[in-house]
Amino acid sequence: MGNRLSEALHVAPGGCIQGEIIVPGDKSISHRAVMFGALAAGETMIRDCLLGADVLATIEAFKALGATIEVDGTEVRIKGLGARGLCEPQQSIDLGNSGTSMRLLTGILAGSGTRARLIGDSSLSRRPMRRVVDPLVKMGARIETSSHGTPPIVIAPSTGLTGIEYPMPIASAQVKSALLLAGLSAAGTTTVIEPQPTRDHTERMLEDFGVQVVRDGARISIAGGQTLTAVSIRVPADISSAAFFMVGAAIAEGGDVTLRGVGMNPTRTGVLEVLRLMGAQIDINNEQLVGHEPIADVRIRESRLRAIEVPRELVPLAIDEFPVLFVAAACARGTTIVRGAGELRHKESDRIAVMAEGLTTLGIESETFEDGIAISGGSIGGGEIDAHDDHRIAMAFAMAALAANKTITITAAENISTSFPSFVSLARGSGLKVQ
Ligand code: S3P
Repeated sequence: MGNRLSEALHVAPGGCIQGEIIVPGDKSISHRAVMFGALAAGETMIRDCLLGADVLATIEAFKALGATIEVDGTEVRIKGLGARGLCEPQQSIDLGNSGTSMRLLTGILAGSGTRARLIGDSSLSRRPMRRVVDPLVKMGARIETSSHGTPPIVIAPSTGLTGIEYPMPIASAQVKSALLLAGLSAAGTTTVIEPQPTRDHTERMLEDFGVQVVRDGARISIAGGQTLTAVSIRVPADISSAAFFMVGAAIAEGGDVTLRGVGMNPTRTGVLEVLRLMGAQIDINNEQLVGHEPIADVRIRESRLRAIEVPRELVPLAIDEFPVLFVAAACARGTTIVRGAGELRHKESDRIAVMAEGLTTLGIESETFEDGIAISGGSIGGGEIDAHDDHRIAMAFAMAALAANKTITITAAENISTSFPSFVSLARGSGLKVQ
């Protein structure tokens, strides 16, 4: 991949984020484009695909399942396998750090008639999988996890799946997607009912591939037996990657950045709404549609941020952006409160605990709750932060240096390559003093 960080990041204080930036393709959309391309009949072409380690894990998984996938720059060409064309992999499929790969693939394999064993790195091996396995077993799948409900996931051929109606106990796009994908090979209709709206890239992209998904408020249904037809997909720039630069521009004097072609799917734009509520100056221009996904240019300038209580309905719509939003909170006047965000404890790290630990190192006071955190804005110092192998923690604390008065050193930052391999070079090129 190149750009892999083998050492700690040292970020000197000061500087500001300026200029025009195109961040790499959206991770959630790239995963789905590869998966759906591999399942479709015909040749799918993906442009601007993210080729971070997580999406590469998805690509390798589908090669192991028999798809032909060629990567050329950020273009990915896939000869799909068609309905029930997956082959039995020769060995365990290693999905590295990627929860999306593991959960969506479990849904795809549940009714495929294929036997497979899914494994991951030490972080993924600690993440909860019963949330997908339990409803899939209700549909008739034969799937086992460890006794803790964590990977490895072992999938055996079943006698056939049957659609269920499933009110989801937690708001999770990965669970929703896994069930809808399993529903494609189930008898009858599979319906999921969301407790809160979550990212809907699966629903939108299945429509690109010619599959009918019925949405009725919180109910999302898919009829079994539908097949996917290959298409061309262009992946928007990842709003989750853009978020680091948005906060970076907002928190330091002279900040002014324009992020081009960023995905503006309303189930992902919570970060913009939270930053606006905090007083950030944000302009949206050049709104367009690519396939079923909206994109736009986002300009954000240095802003005097104020603390807010984050509205609970925005939590799932900004779920991956909280690490960097906590840095914005550390720079805001007053105490920012986030509640209803217990899911942050089940991401690549426990993002509530790990962010609180890092903020304390930098001299910022916080109080944690089982489902959130209260952060009191203040003066950011320096120190050594352990990113706990979590990409978004590492990038969030790198941006904190813009408002710090001493160097911030970030260890265990290698996994930045999972979602944003070019982060260090793009950040340095736009004004972050990172080595
Ligand atoms: C994702 C869904 C979210 C998000 C993750 C990617 C997806 O997770 O945090 O980074 O691509 O479907 P949950 O489904 O657990 O909410």
